[in-house]
Amino acid sequence: MNEASPRPACPGRYEPAPYRLDLSTCPSIPVPPPGPRSREMHARAERIMRGYSGQVRLFPVVFAEGKGCALQDADGNRYIDFSSGIYVTNLGHCHPKVSEAVADAARTLMNAHDFTTPIKLRLLELLMEILPGDFAGVQLYDSGTTAVEAALRTCRAATGKGEFLSFFRDFHGKTLGAVSLARMNSVYAQTRMPGFYMLPRPDTYRPLWQRPDGSLDTEKYLDLYDEFLREGTSGQVAAVVIEPIQGWAGSIMPPDDFLPKLRTFCDKRGIILFADEVLTGMGRAGHWLCCERWNTLPDVATLGKGLGNGFPVTAMIVRKPYADAVDKISASTSYGGNPMACAAAVASIEVIIEEGLLEHARELEAYFLRRMADWPKKYVIVGDVRCMGCLLGVELVKDKVTKEPFDEAGKRVYVKAFERGLAWIPAGHILRMSPPLVMPIEVAVKGMDIIEEAIAETERELAMI
Ligand SMILES: Cc1ncc(COP(=O)(O)O)c(C=O)c1O
Repeated sequence: MNEASPRPACPGRYEPAPYRLDLSTCPSIPVPPPGPRSREMHARAERIMRGYSGQVRLFPVVFAEGKGCALQDADGNRYIDFSSGIYVTNLGHCHPKVSEAVADAARTLMNAHDFTTPIKLRLLELLMEILPGDFAGVQLYDSGTTAVEAALRTCRAATGKGEFLSFFRDFHGKTLGAVSLARMNSVYAQTRMPGFYMLPRPDTYRPLWQRPDGSLDTEKYLDLYDEFLREGTSGQVAAVVIEPIQGWAGSIMPPDDFLPKLRTFCDKRGIILFADEVLTGMGRAGHWLCCERWNTLPDVATLGKGLGNGFPVTAMIVRKPYADAVDKISASTSYGGNPMACAAAVASIEVIIEEGLLEHARELEAYFLRRMADWPKKYVIVGDVRCMGCLLGVELVKDKVTKEPFDEAGKRVYVKAFERGLAWIPAGHILRMSPPLVMPIEVAVKGMDIIEEAIAETERELAMI
C-alpha cells in the first residue's frame, strides 16, 4: 500500500506519529466488491473451511493487506477499517512498533512455558503501572474465552462457592463455561451448566422499569437481583459477571448509576464482581478499564482483543484480596505469556501511552456523539445512537414507538457502506462500529459520511420517507 504521503494534522491533539496513510486514496473502490479475485479465492476457501460468520457470507471480500486504519482487498480496493478486525486492532494494522516487537521476540525466544522471561516481567510490571486499584494476581492466556474460564475458576476458588449470575445479551466467549454465562440456543449449546443464571440488565433505550419522570429505574433491577438471589439460587453465588458495555449485542451502554450500584450490591452480599473487559478494556472505551468511566473497580477482570493489537494475548487480572486464589486453579497454559505475545502487549501499551490514544479515543467519542446527535430525528429508521470511546451503536427500528428491530435495513446499510469502502461488522439491526483508536478525525468523518449515505439510501429504498 502507498505509505508515502504524510497525514494532514488532526484538528485535535492527536498527532499520528510513526507511519502514514494516504488519506486521498482511502477509500478507493476501482472494482465493485466483492471483486473477481475475492470471489474466486473465497469460493476456494469455502470448499474447505466451514463456519464462516454471517457478515462474511453476506460480503465475501478477501483482505490482503492492512496499514493503520486502511485495508486493501485482493482486487486492489481500499477500505476504511471501521471495526478493527473484531474490536482487536486498536492501533490499526501493522503498527511498526508492534510488528517489530513481535518479530524481535520471534528471533529471540519462542516459548518457555510459564517460566519468567524478561519480556513477561516487563509486561507484568507495565500492567501494574497502568491499571487502577490494587490488581495483583495476573495470569496470561491466548484467547478471551480461556481468560474468562480461568476467571470463573478463580472466583470459585476464592469463595468456595459455585454459582454465577450474568446478564441477558452479554457475551463472554465460546467455551462451555463462557457460553453458560450467555444466551443459550442451538447456536452455542443446548444446556446451561448447573449454577449459571441470567438476569435482565438496564438498557436505556429499552427500559423494563422507568421512574415517573421517564428515566430508567435502576433500583428495580437491583430489587429483582436481590429477590432472585433468595428465590432462584442456593445462596452460593461466587460472582456477578458483566460486560461493562455490551459489545456483541450492539454497543449497549448501561445507565451511569448501574455499575456503581452493582458494585455496592456485590459488596453487601460478599459476591465477587467480575468485569469481562475483553472487548471494552485497553483503551477501546477511552480508559484502560471501561469500568473506570463510572469510578468503579471490579474484583476480577479479563482483558483481550486490543491487549496485543491482533497478536493473541489475553489476561485475567485479580485484585489483591483474591490473588491467592489464582495459585489454586492450575492457571498456566501452553501459549499464555509466550514471549511474542508479551512483546506485542508491551509494545501496544507503550504506543497507547506514547501516542496519547486514551485521550484521542475520547476526542473521537466527542466527534461521533456530535455527529450522530440528530440522526434519530433526521432518519425514520434510526431509533437510538450511542458511543463511548471508539465503541458506537446505531439501532435501526421499523417503528419508533414499538422499537421493532429492522434487520433488513441493517443488512442493506451494511452492504451499501461496504460497497462504498467501509470495512465493518454490524449486528443485525444494530450498526455496531469500532474504529481503531489511531483513526484521525478526518478519516472518522469520511467513515461517518459513508454510513449516513448508506442509511439515507436504505430509507429511500424501503420507502420509509
Ligand atoms: C466480552 C467478550 N468476552 C470474551 C470474548 C471471547 O474472546 P475470544 O474470541 O478471544 O475467545 C469476547 C469475544 O468477542 C468478548 O467480546
